[in-house]
Amino acid sequence: MTKTGFIFDLDGVIVDTAKYHYLAWRNLAEELGFEFTEEQNELFKGVSRKRCLEILLEIGNVKATQEQFDLWMIEKNEDYLKYIEKMDASEILPDVAKVLDYLKERNIPIALGSASKNAKPILEKVKLLSYFDCIVDGNNVTKAKPDPEVFLIAAEKLGVDPNNCVVFEDAVAGVEAANAANMVSIGIGDSAILSEAKHNFIDFTEMSLEFLSGLIKN
Ligand code: BG6
Ligand code: MG
Repeated sequence: MTKTGFIFDLDGVIVDTAKYHYLAWRNLAEELGFEFTEEQNELFKGVSRKRCLEILLEIGNVKATQEQFDLWMIEKNEDYLKYIEKMDASEILPDVAKVLDYLKERNIPIALGSASKNAKPILEKVKLLSYFDCIVDGNNVTKAKPDPEVFLIAAEKLGVDPNNCVVFEDAVAGVEAANAANMVSIGIGDSAILSEAKHNFIDFTEMSLEFLSGLIKN
């Protein structure tokens, strides 16, 4: 029997933390004297904290010593942690729990594949940690999305062939990573932005259980 595994991105797929990342980066940009728009924030989705700061400084044309760079990374994260401090289950995106329940009831392996180093505490806060058979996050990878490393490690930990993995992603870099891993990529969000995904849905409320069941090989 061929086993199917499901891999979920976190930010923008399970919870809408992209808005908190945006606010924290915008605060830093403001402090450095330039504007950071929501449109520019699209470039930050799925991208590691370090790479985000590099892009932010390019946008603001700001030069930094290594020491200053490291301090701004800490400052941004401390600010972000204040935003997520009060998160609870009410911030789980619509029908995510329904999809997780459907998979769990059928004993389908589930992994998290996120670039964030804050993934575990967020899953704890929204009370979803127990759904995941393994967590692969920013603490476990050396190569950031669009490199497929995060998803390949997740597949290995689940004991599922990468070809039999399905990935839910809201970021262009994440869809590219899933495709590069030869997995079935499902874009959650704007299909014009996530046009490289194999399937597209605005959110999980649009995805029928029949569609989900059709992804499971047995
Ligand atoms: C990704 C987000 O999931 O995690 C990015 O989409 C973020 O915007 C990245 O930069 C790293 O997150 P963190 O929590 O480690 O700063
Ligand atoms: Mg994301």
